[in-house]
Amino acid sequence: MAEIKTPEDLVARSQEAKKSAYCIYSNFRVGAALLSTDGTVFTGCNVENACYNLGICAERTAIAKAVSEGHRDFNAIAIASDMEDEYISPCGGCRQFMREFGLKWEVYLSKPDGSFMKTTVEELLPNSFGPEDLKEKRIVQAEHSQ
Ligand code: THU
Repeated sequence: MAEIKTPEDLVARSQEAKKSAYCIYSNFRVGAALLSTDGTVFTGCNVENACYNLGICAERTAIAKAVSEGHRDFNAIAIASDMEDEYISPCGGCRQFMREFGLKWEVYLSKPDGSFMKTTVEELLPNSFGPEDLKEKRIVQAEHSQ
C-alpha cells in the first residue's frame, strides 16, 4: 500500500476501509485508518452483530488490529462515514480506547467529500482517566465495605 504523506492520504484510507463496514442493522458505515509512528497503517470498519450490543466501532477495530500486531504508538487516526454535512465524531468508548495509547496524537474527522477537521485525542477527551492514574498514590483502605 502507498505511503501516507498527508492527512488527506489517511482520510482516503479510512474511506476505503468504510467499504468493508458490516452494518446490516444500522446501515451506518464507518471506516478508520490508524497511522502508527513507524508508518504502518491499520484500517478498521464497524462490525455489527445480531446481538446488537456486541457490535464494534471502526476505530476500535483498527486499534485492536494494531495492538494485536505489536503496535502501540500512533501518530494519527482518520475516521470516515457517509454523513454528507457532518464530520464523523467518535463515540465516548472509542475516545477512551484511543486515550489508552496517549493524549497527544491527531484525529481527523472527515466527510465523504474528503474534507476533514483536525483535532487531538486530548481535545476529544479532556480531563480523562488513563493508565497513569492507576499508578497514583491511593489512601489505604481500613476495611472492606460490604
Ligand atoms: N460507529 C463507529 O463505528 N464509529 C463511530 O465513531 C460512531 C459509530 C458505528 C457503530 C455502529 O455500528 C454504527 O456506527 C451506528 O452507531
